[in-house]
Amino acid sequence: MEALRRAANVTKDIIDEVITKKLDVKSLSSASNRTICLADFGCAVGPNTFTSLQSLDIVKKKYLSQFPNEPMPEFQVFFNDQPSNDFNTLFRSLPPDREYFAAGVPGSFHGRVFPKSSLHVVQSNYALHWLSKIPESLVDKNSPAWNKGKIHYAGASDEVLKAYGERWAEDLNNFLNARAEEIVPGGMVIVIMPSIPDGMPYSELANGLLYSSFESTLLDMSKRVCQ
Ligand SMILES: C[S@@+](CC[C@H](N)C(=O)[O-])C[C@H]1O[C@@H](n2cnc3c(N)ncnc32)[C@H](O)[C@@H]1O
Repeated sequence: MEALRRAANVTKDIIDEVITKKLDVKSLSSASNRTICLADFGCAVGPNTFTSLQSLDIVKKKYLSQFPNEPMPEFQVFFNDQPSNDFNTLFRSLPPDREYFAAGVPGSFHGRVFPKSSLHVVQSNYALHWLSKIPESLVDKNSPAWNKGKIHYAGASDEVLKAYGERWAEDLNNFLNARAEEIVPGGMVIVIMPSIPDGMPYSELANGLLYSSFESTLLDMSKRVCQ
């Protein structure tokens, strides 16, 4: 979680630049009865979701710099995650001095969770790489992508990589199609997610090493159970 917080600080400048250059806060606000709606997709239980709501502060800063004598619009922030997320913990840790109205919205971000044209700024931090489900071919003994004895794609065959890649491409497509319906014209979608340098072997990634060690532990455990 500390790593995610540090990463959020790194991305702040980029988000600041994009919102400052591209978001027309004034027209969004006047077209929506002076309420700006933001949504954080894959919020978890906090506290990162609050510090990572950088877009809200930047939108406010932009509005103030452009219209110093006008009253600030009101802000509504929706926190989305799967229904199994612990929203009670999230609500209990909402900052008491927050300057926005908060609501939780359960449901998979791979489908629609908001009405049409109802969001102005969408942010998703470190969540979009979560797949909607295991690619079926990985668990099919007759498939060339059967990932026997593994729980990840680090060190796996090209067929396994392809199966994971195809699942993610379809998930991303579903996410973008749903947000395209939910966001107002002129709104903005900000996605922050992990990536790797071109050509880096998956087996050398920090996550690859981590999952390989889980993998050998799970295999040991399953061997003991089967003995
Ligand atoms: C690594 S956490 C990131 C949490 C937070 N955004 C942050 O920056 O610390 C990923 C979150 O995405 C959520 N998530 C994964 N798939 C999801 C989906 N299809 N719909 C909604 N939330 C999802 C998970 O439940 C988890 O809470």
